[in-house]
Amino acid sequence: MTLSRKPLKGMRQLYPGERRVEDYIVSGLTRAGRAYGFEEYEGPVLEPLELFLAKSGSELAREQSYNFTDKGGRELILRPELTPSLARMIAAGGELIYPVRWMSVPLCFRYERPQRGRVREFLQFNLDILGAPSPEAELEVILVLNRLMRGFGAVPGQFEIRYSSRKLASAVLARCGLKAESLEAAFAVIDKRDKLPSEKWESWVREIVGDSAYSEAVIRFSRCRSLDAPWLVQLMAGDESLEELREFSRMLDTAGVEAAVFDPGVVRGLDYYTGIVFEVMDTGSENRRALCGGGRYDDLVGLFGGRGVSGVGFGLGILTLKLFLETYDLLPAILSNAPPVELFIAALSQEQRAFVLNLAEKLRNDGLSVETGLGGKNLRSQFTLADKRCIEFIAVVGPREIEEGRVNLKRSGREDLQVQMVDLAEAVRAE
Ligand code: HAM
Repeated sequence: MTLSRKPLKGMRQLYPGERRVEDYIVSGLTRAGRAYGFEEYEGPVLEPLELFLAKSGSELAREQSYNFTDKGGRELILRPELTPSLARMIAAGGELIYPVRWMSVPLCFRYERPQRGRVREFLQFNLDILGAPSPEAELEVILVLNRLMRGFGAVPGQFEIRYSSRKLASAVLARCGLKAESLEAAFAVIDKRDKLPSEKWESWVREIVGDSAYSEAVIRFSRCRSLDAPWLVQLMAGDESLEELREFSRMLDTAGVEAAVFDPGVVRGLDYYTGIVFEVMDTGSENRRALCGGGRYDDLVGLFGGRGVSGVGFGLGILTLKLFLETYDLLPAILSNAPPVELFIAALSQEQRAFVLNLAEKLRNDGLSVETGLGGKNLRSQFTLADKRCIEFIAVVGPREIEEGRVNLKRSGREDLQVQMVDLAEAVRAE
């Protein structure tokens, strides 16, 4: 029997070159978080199903997840996201220092149809502030987002940070007469605004929301691009949710977040969001899925008893960001063929092998990364291997080198250098 060479559909399998790209992205993300004092934490991969049924929404918890009953009869889920686990950790965390600023890069699992930007096993960068109820917390996490996007070389015009407010959307629709029980259905259709052709979406809204005045309100609000639109200001006179979002919009302007734009089409699919919500989108047509999504969730920690703690944060998909960086050619070329080590030591013949192994160990003790040829290959094959691996320095060791205690250090594209073996690590590092 021949086994299949393919992993399960949508599962994450990275060859070293792809893993290098992922490492580069993850370190850029955590660097941005660290600049604002965020610390890393971890949650469990396997969780009780009820944790996600409570507030993430049953579509995500039941249909779009890997859930099963274990041998002990417990209903479990491979986490589709991290936020509920974070909320539980906060509730059980005892004397935490507020506001908590935490970040994490969990592996998540969703049973979705694999497509561009959507897989079944994925890494997601999470960054959250807990215990800061003012919109300064939203501003802070958006500043991190902006910094990390800019840090990868992205410029406004390539991406947008689209924000809105669930509170405002609920208040607008309530003022238009929509009943509270129809709100979730209205949010669901608003969420699909850009996923369907315009006319099709409108007729769908009319079908789902019903009564023409309500559906026209949903359509009008979804298409509104300004928080100063006279109809909106007039409709929401005396309501604090509009003023709150306008104030937030001014804060973004003052902070110079050029990529931020108000977009009522952002409502977010997860049920726990309570206030300002946001997404990062590619402005081009190549990547249609959000790179990142987040918002305020003020009632999640309270589900675990004790005092409620407000939260705000985001999740950013490493894969979606990678696709974006590829689209705009923002991944450093060196990543595609970065050498795995700094130095290759070639033995002239098998007789020098023991010496070479010993020398390599000493250099590794000095902090250098070193590879040596395996399997008694001749010099030419060892050079070819080092060349294929793009290793910049090669030291050749033969009987004369051992006797004299120095080596010929080959440097790609430059002249060879005679170096004392004791100075080898320093010589490579100095280049
Ligand atoms: P989310 O919108 O479900 O939010 O996911 C956030 C991001 O994770 C998405 O924008 C996307 O980049 C990535 N992502 C989601 N599903 C997939 C998938 N199947 N394949 C690849 N990437 C994916 C949350 O998960 C919230 N818990 C975020 C959050 C943190 N809100 C507050 N704090």
